[in-house]
Amino acid sequence: MDDCMGKLTTINVDGKSQNDLVSMTDNVLDVITCKAAVVHELGGPLTMEEIKVDPPKASEVRIKMLVASICHTDIFCCNGFPIPLFPRIPGHEGVGMVESVGINVKTDVVKPGDVVIPLYLGECGECLNCKSGKTNICHVHTISMTGLMSDATSRMSVAKTGETIYHHFSCSTWSEYMVIDVNYVLKIDPKVPLPYASFLTCGFTTGFGAPWKETPIHKGSSVAVFGLGAVGLGAIKGAQMQGASKIIGIDINEMKSTKGRAFGMTDFINPKDHPNQPVSDLVKDITNGLGVDYSFECTGVKSLLSEAVEASKIGLGTTVSIGIGLDSNSLIKSPTLLYGRTVKGSVLGGVKTRSDLPILIGKCINKEIELDVLLTHEIRLEDIHEAFDTLKKPDCLKILINFD
Ligand SMILES: NC(=O)c1ccc[n+]([C@@H]2O[C@H](COP(=O)([O-])OP(=O)(O)OC[C@H]3O[C@@H](n4cnc5c(N)ncnc54)[C@H](O)[C@@H]3O)[C@@H](O)[C@H]2O)c1
Ligand SMILES: [Zn+2]
Ligand SMILES: [Zn+2]
Repeated sequence: MDDCMGKLTTINVDGKSQNDLVSMTDNVLDVITCKAAVVHELGGPLTMEEIKVDPPKASEVRIKMLVASICHTDIFCCNGFPIPLFPRIPGHEGVGMVESVGINVKTDVVKPGDVVIPLYLGECGECLNCKSGKTNICHVHTISMTGLMSDATSRMSVAKTGETIYHHFSCSTWSEYMVIDVNYVLKIDPKVPLPYASFLTCGFTTGFGAPWKETPIHKGSSVAVFGLGAVGLGAIKGAQMQGASKIIGIDINEMKSTKGRAFGMTDFINPKDHPNQPVSDLVKDITNGLGVDYSFECTGVKSLLSEAVEASKIGLGTTVSIGIGLDSNSLIKSPTLLYGRTVKGSVLGGVKTRSDLPILIGKCINKEIELDVLLTHEIRLEDIHEAFDTLKKPDCLKILINFD
């Protein structure tokens, strides 16, 4: 796969070189009219249309997107998660180049021409949570659930009507241009391949971080991963790199067996092969009847969180809950399941976006981690309406969205 260095030399924003971009900050910035994928109503289709993107305000950055990708959570976004406000532009995975910055953005943080990842979780380093060193959930720049910027306004509108368009979290990566608070922007080493950087924005990082940062697992431990999408495969790779000796992958899609093994899975269970047995029993069958030290729920399917807990060792096991479902009826089925066990919820696998994510990106640059196996489909932004159907194909794992 090409690294993004090669692409960078040819990347221009509206025909301007990177030097031109730098000088653009000296001028009054214009509203940009561009194309974006918009969803207008709950569960509605994605339509490509012209939108207007305002200039960045003082502490904001306007980004020209280079590539984006799709996380399962984007489907929930179209269905009203985390808040049913429409029209909105989905997308929280992607890589872009800074087009312009607000007057308070320091050039040593980001400047026009920098390659960046827009984030949905910040890391201020100064709030109670950041200072605790125990969590990646920053109080100051916590996940935006309002669909608006911190001043309660949007930077995007429908070009024809002027109607306000809501952001998705702090981002909206399925747009040619987007505006984001500088605290949600991570400048990245441009040596990382663009598709890798896009996949690292959410899905793979979330899984990888769970056994690495959220619940650092011990060497030689046993692990069960429920659901082998990008999140689950990340959890498998993270567990392998943390030294797990047994890594059981569970998925109803048989094709995920090969993908899991590529990342270090040692055993595979397809629950469809055992229709009358609970998955937790299947896990115990191959762990001396005891279950695993750690389980990771990465499907969002209701009832599987209980199965993941029950698949862990009574008295000792830890389960990390990652999957998101619109149906909230997915909690533990009985309090007795929790005897001596620990269950922890996770956002982005506990990965701190400024302290930890660059380490993971570095592992990709030095080829300790290769993500080519995740990339199964590519589409152009204008064909985005096909994306959710493509996602349903059994061989589909990650769809890369190209902007040119
Ligand atoms: N907490 C977070 O920070 C965070 C971040 C990213 C994604 N997520 C959530 O994590 C989940 C996984 O995301 P993804 O992008 O990898 O999704 P995905 O759809 O690519 O992967 C889910 C996998 O689960 C499998 N699956 C479905 N039903 C199953 C069942 N009954 N038994 C076993 N396997 C089953 C599917 O075949 C698929 O391989 C989603 O719910 C997503 O919304 C959470
Ligand atoms: Zn903080
Ligand atoms: Zn996501």
